[in-house]
Amino acid sequence: MATIGTDIEKAVYWLEKGEVVAIPTETVYGLAGNIYNEGAIAKIYAAKARPRTNPLIVHVADIAAAEALVTEFPPVARELATAFWPGPLTMIFPKSETVPDSITAGEKTVAIRIPDHPLTLALLKATGFPLAAPSANPYNYISPVTAAQVNDMLGDKIPYILDGGRCTKGIESTILAVQQDGQVQLLRPGALNVNLIEEKINTTVGQKTKESPAHAGMSKVHYSPRTPLYLFGTGTDPVQERTGEKTAYLFFKEKRSGIPDDRQWVLSSGGDPSEAAWNLYDSLYMLDQGGFGSIMAELLPETGAGLAVNDRLRKAAQPYIGK
Ligand code: TXA
Ligand code: MG
Repeated sequence: MATIGTDIEKAVYWLEKGEVVAIPTETVYGLAGNIYNEGAIAKIYAAKARPRTNPLIVHVADIAAAEALVTEFPPVARELATAFWPGPLTMIFPKSETVPDSITAGEKTVAIRIPDHPLTLALLKATGFPLAAPSANPYNYISPVTAAQVNDMLGDKIPYILDGGRCTKGIESTILAVQQDGQVQLLRPGALNVNLIEEKINTTVGQKTKESPAHAGMSKVHYSPRTPLYLFGTGTDPVQERTGEKTAYLFFKEKRSGIPDDRQWVLSSGGDPSEAAWNLYDSLYMLDQGGFGSIMAELLPETGAGLAVNDRLRKAAQPYIGK
């Protein structure tokens, strides 16, 4: 099993040897390796059982390190980087030749972010090389938000887990495609709310089109518990015909009468979508361990962090009931 600790030198030691190490970020835990070490990259894909056709996000310590990996850093990207890095924003750039094709799955672009976690920022400064890091879950499973969850999921495949406590955002970064002419497209909603991005650059963020860079969040099933998950519309009553299956209910803000108390949970009793995002994977993981026959989860209103939560719920769910 992996050693769990807060020792940056140990993490550096393993990374320099070409091993992969789980790292804390503000969003979810990542499974990190040196982008210039082909063996380490292969180990990331193997540990997750992730297809090699799905590219990885590169994590860097500062904007200069990001610039070194790209051929164009559009002005709009600079504005966003200055405002939101370190933070839960990933941007896609045309890659420079020095970025290995193995981490971009052969794409001519590279996804980059500066994570906002003191341990991982210190680690990035100490290694001096960028870290490729997908979320530290087995392919298509729930993303981990604590070191203990990483250990449960992948502890037998990696030597070290850098323990940075529970992730403060609890859901992955927002991914944007940024163009030289100032256009910005949302490839994956995430922990940075789109309205904050739009306010900052005074531009409407476009939705994904057929011409958008492929990959980001493309896989139809994703983020899924092993227990079948079904959804119901915000504020509506869940279909309760599944009670014979020992169903667990996950509501946005309010418990419902008529359901036993030990079968229902809420994501945010104050109705705060960001708090719901923070609790989402942690709750799904807990329920997945709970021996339930099925999980019924309520969608959030489609605003702010609700967009990111609903994106994950829809990808995690069985063909869903209701809206
Ligand atoms: O918050 C996060 O973004 C976390 C933490 C660890 O930083 N990382 C994360 O990585 O969510 P991952 O691999 O689980 O999801 C990254 C998504 C994938 O859907 C991948 O296909 C997409 O980003 N992606 C990576 N490089 C890309 C590229 N060059 N073009 C388009 N999509 C890309
Ligand atoms: Mg992931």
